[in-house]
Amino acid sequence: MTHKLAILPGDGIGPDIVAEAVKVLTALRDDFGLEVAWDEAAVGGTAYDETGHPLPAATLELAQSAEAVLLGAVGGPRWEALDHSVRPERALLGLRKELGLFANLRPAKAFPELVEASALRPEVVAGIDIMVVRELTGGIYFGEPSGVEELADGRRRGVNTLVYTSDEIERIGWVAFDIARKRSGRVCSVDKANVLEATELWREVITELGERDYPDVALSHMYVDNAAMQLVRAPSQFDVMVTTNMFGDILSDEASMLTGSIGLLPSASLNQEGAGMYEPIHGSAPDIAGTGQANPLATILSVAMMLRYSLNEAPLADRVEGAVARVLADGWRTPDIAGNGEAVGTAEMGDAVIAALRE
Ligand code: NAD
Ligand code: IPM
Ligand code: MN
Repeated sequence: MTHKLAILPGDGIGPDIVAEAVKVLTALRDDFGLEVAWDEAAVGGTAYDETGHPLPAATLELAQSAEAVLLGAVGGPRWEALDHSVRPERALLGLRKELGLFANLRPAKAFPELVEASALRPEVVAGIDIMVVRELTGGIYFGEPSGVEELADGRRRGVNTLVYTSDEIERIGWVAFDIARKRSGRVCSVDKANVLEATELWREVITELGERDYPDVALSHMYVDNAAMQLVRAPSQFDVMVTTNMFGDILSDEASMLTGSIGLLPSASLNQEGAGMYEPIHGSAPDIAGTGQANPLATILSVAMMLRYSLNEAPLADRVEGAVARVLADGWRTPDIAGNGEAVGTAEMGDAVIAALRE
């Protein structure tokens, strides 16, 4: 049966990096027997310009009918003044909510060849292998009330609400514990239970779940401020980190720099049925958009995650990850990971991955 994908390039560097991922999919189809077909649709600011909405109904329908979605990035200065209801970022939140993608996996793994590219000392980052499990459809991103209101005295009042129910916490807990069982058997749950009641509940629910269903997994808890510090002090203490929507957003950007660049970190966003959306964790990088210098590896590694988690094609996922490791070992570098050395552009990096795939 042919796997059907939805491809949503988006804004800024989105189309550039997705083009390289599409090259990889094309090579897998033509040379490695992957039965796959895809349709593209507009999302984010680009879609807003075309249709007046960042997530047009046709794009959502395409995503809903696909086995998996590959997304580039959305957003940019051009659309920053828009009302929140139609900002490009709303498209992402809409896709996550409508597809029920509550579990966001963001793996930060060191490539031995890149330990020098990290802002931290090589001995601190060598060998790190962290899986950030971020809750993606709840928390302060979706809590009500939200918005900005005008008060009678002329002041304005902005509100967002951090809210979690026990079942939302439990289902992301299951995901984290299950993943830990296949890894080193350790979960660190990150919260702010000393101050925020909603995350005090988070800690309670995760603790109960661990005691009841996962006595074989070593569970620890950490406050988010300490976790942010520990991630740069001694990142190798972490295996699986499970946390709320907002904390996971922030900690995964931080974790990406342990590997050398945010341009290296892929993600999978999964729902209860295992359907998923795959995207790099970074944004549309307006500062380098249009220069052809963006690192496409996070997007290509997102294709590998798609092969593994949604398409049940683990050997091909291994092959794509192997090709990426190979090009890094061979010295291919985009500017974000080149330091003072020579760098190639987005398309050359993509071509190098294709060549390594076929080797
Ligand atoms: P960003 O991740 O776009 O960029 C942060 C920094 O990292 C920039 O200096 C950028 O050049 C660099 N960078 C990011 N990806 C890179 C890559 N592949 N290769 C090389 N360098 C890379 O974050 P930002 O600047 O805070 O946000 C820009 C826009 O993107 C905003 O509109 C924001 O809302 C949006 N955004 C979208 C997503 C998404 O679509 N998933 C994620 C984060 C931010
Ligand atoms: C991410 C992004 C998004 C988020 C924004 C663009 C909505 O930062 O995917 O990490 O905050 O989740
Ligand atoms: Mn983010």
